[in-house]
Amino acid sequence: MNFEKKIVLVTGAASGIGLAVTKAFAEAGAKVWAVDIHNAPEGLSSDKNIEFRHLDITDSAGWEALVESIAAADETLDILVNCAGRIDFGLIANTPWETVSKAMDVNLGGAYRGIQACAPLLLKRDADAPWACVINISSMASYGGVPFSSTYAASKAALTSFTKSAAQEFAKLGQHIRVNSVHPATIDTPMVAETNKTVSTLLGIKPEDIHRESIARHPIGRIGCVEDVVFGVLYLADDRAAFTTGYDLKVSGGREI
Ligand SMILES: NC(=O)c1ccc[n+]([C@@H]2O[C@H](COP(=O)([O-])OP(=O)(O)OC[C@H]3O[C@@H](n4cnc5c(N)ncnc54)[C@H](O)[C@@H]3O)[C@@H](O)[C@H]2O)c1
Repeated sequence: MNFEKKIVLVTGAASGIGLAVTKAFAEAGAKVWAVDIHNAPEGLSSDKNIEFRHLDITDSAGWEALVESIAAADETLDILVNCAGRIDFGLIANTPWETVSKAMDVNLGGAYRGIQACAPLLLKRDADAPWACVINISSMASYGGVPFSSTYAASKAALTSFTKSAAQEFAKLGQHIRVNSVHPATIDTPMVAETNKTVSTLLGIKPEDIHRESIARHPIGRIGCVEDVVFGVLYLADDRAAFTTGYDLKVSGGREI
C-alpha cells in the first residue's frame, strides 16, 4: 500500500502496536507525527518521515499545541490512529473509582480529545478529495468483558461505541471523516508481557500456563503479532476503504470474545 503525501498522527507510538503502525506508515511513504507520554525508542526520530512529540493524550491543551504544530508544518491531517491505551488489574470489590476514571480518561478520553482537537485539520480538504480517517485501537475485550480487568473492558467498550457514534455523526453532517475501530485479541507486545506477569502474581498461576491458555483461546493456534494489527490499520486507512465507516475490524485469530 502507498501512503505517499499522506499526513498521519499515531498515539502510543513509543511501543508495541503504535510503534509498528508508525514505522509501517513511514515505510509506505507517509509523514508521521508520532506521539507518546514516554520517550521514543532510540533511532525512531532519525527517520526523516517521522516527527516524534511527547503528548499525554488526556491533556487537552497538549492536543491543541500539537495540532498547531501540525497545521504550521503540514497544513492538514489525513489519518489519525488513536492507539495509546492502559490496562489495570484488580477485583471489582477493591477497585477505587479513581482507577475506573483513569481507564475511561485514557482509553475513551484520549481518543475523544484527539478527534475533537484534530477534526478541524482532518476536515481541511477539497470536496472531491478522499475522506480523512480515524482509526481507534479498541480490543476484543470490548465485546466479552475481562475478569480482573473490568476497567479496561468497560473503557474499550465505550471506545467501540464512541467510534460508531462519531462515524455516523460526521457522515450525517456531510463532514468527510471515516471512523473505524480495530479489535485485537492477544498480541505479543510489552503490554501483554506485563499483563501476564500481573495475572500470574494475582492468581498464582505460572506465566507459562497463562501463555499456553492464551494460545488455546485463539482458534488459529497462536497469539497475534504487531504486523497482524498493522495490516488491519493500513486496510482501513487506505482510500479504497472509502465505503467503510463505523466498522469494527476483529484481528483476533478467530477468537470471538
Ligand atoms: N497487546 C494486546 O494484546 C492488545 C489487545 C487489544 C488491544 N490492545 C490495545 O492496543 C493499544 C496498544 O497496546 P500495546 O499492546 O501496543 O501496548 P504498549 O504498552 O506496548 O503500548 C502502549 C503505548 O501507549 C502509551 N500511553 C499510555 N498512556 C498514554 C497517555 N496517557 N498518553 C500518551 N501515551 C500513552 C504508552 O506509553 C505505550 O507506549 C492499546 O490501546 C491497547 O489497549 C492491545
